[in-house]
This record gives sequence, structure tokens and C-alpha cells, in this order.
Amino acid sequence: EAATVHQAENATISQGVVESNHVGYTGTGFVNYDNLIGSYVEFTVDATAAETTPLTFRFANGTTADRPMAITVNGTPLRTVSFPGTGAWTSWREVSADAPLNAGANTIRATATTANGGPNLDALTV
Ligand code: GCU
Ligand code: CA
Ligand code: CA
Repeated sequence: EAATVHQAENATISQGVVESNHVGYTGTGFVNYDNLIGSYVEFTVDATAAETTPLTFRFANGTTADRPMAITVNGTPLRTVSFPGTGAWTSWREVSADAPLNAGANTIRATATTANGGPNLDALTV
């Protein structure tokens, strides 16, 4: 099935703000996670059938410290994904994690696990 881009700026945001001050994002901006543990972005992703498929997060991290995030799928912990430094806030890259999805709507949440918060998150492609 063709992948769909889900923009972070259109998702549900807890403790983060939509910004557009660092170029290179897609859509209309990105989410700047508040720099604290527990800030999150939650996406609703539809799947036509139950399947295991890659979740691909596009992000920037202009620091040298990893900003790992805990990924949950329909409330179930999947794993912690590393969001390492990308060299600049305007340098964007992608990381992926395979996830089992249900047929129909799925909730994907990416929660910051360190006091630095998450990276700047542009989009999730599924
Ligand atoms: C800078 C940057 C933000 C980023 C923040 C951070 O303020 O402009 O986009 O989110 O650093 O360290 O998280
Ligand atoms: Ca931030
Ligand atoms: Ca975006």
C-alpha cells in the first residue's frame, strides 16, 4: 500500500508548539517539543488491513545529544527510537521503526524520554 505522510503540525500535540523558523520542513512547519520528559506528538494512522509496516519519522536535532523517544502503538510500547544530532536545526533526516498496525485507525505516539525533550519533528510517513 502506498505510504501516507502525516504532518506533525496537524497531529495532537502535548507540550510542544508548531513552528516554521528552521527551513527544510515539509508541509507547513514542524513540532518543537518542549524540552522536558513526557512531551509528545500523537498521530492517527489508518491501515486498510492488519500489517507490520515501517513508521518513518522525519526530524531535525541541531544538538550533539541524542533525543530518544518512546513510541507507542495503540497504547502499547513499541520501542525507544534514537533521534541523534543531524548537524543543524535545518538538516532533516529520517529514522524508521517497524510497527504492527490494526486494520482501521491506529494511534502512534512519540514521547520524549529525556529532559532535552524530543527533536523537532516534521512528519510521520506510514
Ligand atoms: C532551539 C531551536 C528549537 C529547538 C530547541 C531545542 O531553540 O531553535 O527549534 O526545538 O533549540 O533545543 O529543543
Ligand atoms: Ca524543543
Ligand atoms: Ca511538517
